[in-house]
Amino acid sequence: MQKTIVITGASSGIGLELTKRHIENKDSVIAIVRKASTELKELNIQILEGVDLTTNEAYQRIENFFTGIAKEKDNFKIDLLINNAGLFLNEEVPFDETSFDNMRKQFEVNTIAPLRVTSTLLPYLIKDSKVAMITSKMGSISDNGFGGYYGYRMSKCALNMGTMSLSKAIGQRGITLGLFHPGFVQTKMTSNQGDLTPTESSQRLFDSMSKMNKENNMKYWDIDGSLIHW
Ligand SMILES: NC(=O)c1ccc[n+]([C@@H]2O[C@H](COP(=O)([O-])OP(=O)(O)OC[C@H]3O[C@@H](n4cnc5c(N)ncnc54)[C@H](OP(=O)(O)O)[C@@H]3O)[C@@H](O)[C@H]2O)c1
Repeated sequence: MQKTIVITGASSGIGLELTKRHIENKDSVIAIVRKASTELKELNIQILEGVDLTTNEAYQRIENFFTGIAKEKDNFKIDLLINNAGLFLNEEVPFDETSFDNMRKQFEVNTIAPLRVTSTLLPYLIKDSKVAMITSKMGSISDNGFGGYYGYRMSKCALNMGTMSLSKAIGQRGITLGLFHPGFVQTKMTSNQGDLTPTESSQRLFDSMSKMNKENNMKYWDIDGSLIHW
């Protein structure tokens, strides 16, 4: 049966490529974006546009949109929710120059938004549904070799913790969760620097997410399939 995938931040980079992998897999993809790129529009999928995940209005729009879908489709469920949208404010600065406003902005997008999207879509996440969080290795405490990047590191680390708590709350319903580091990827976020193209990263993420099951619930996956230490 055709699977329903919901993905945030699908206009560019890893999110756009993950969307393409799922279309190739004949899945039905619903993209939630701030502004749909031309490339995303050309994929001819359902797009919920105008969603800035740092606003309260965004979640009302998501709720209304999915209520509409569920009215038209009996037993509508989401097979895989991919919380991909993220914000990296490049802060290669000494601690005393760290911007606390930037820190808060990254928490809003990287920590609160993925949990709030999941909370809003909870009515459609049922037994055997999966939730994939696109986190970062920069959120690993044990992997923090050179410091800095307070807002990004802390917000992804907090996402990992929030997801662990969420798994305690919804895991009993038979929902599987996972945390995925996409590698160092050539996207807008990295000014196109990186070891992997978005296509390469998305293929590996697609493969890893396909393997999500109850036995490997709540793992912190590296892009090569190994596990990252918290
Ligand atoms: N690239 C890497 O090396 C790397 C490494 C580790 C983790 N990651 C993670 O991978 C994910 C995807 O990043 P990417 O590399 O593909 O970068 P990207 O091309 O910049 O994509 C980030 C996406 O997040 C969306 N977004 C940002 N703020 C938002 C907001 N307030 N409301 C709604 N959407 C918002 C962006 O929307 P707009 O298009 O509207 O800006 C964009 O679609 C992120 O979670 C990132 O932290 C990336």
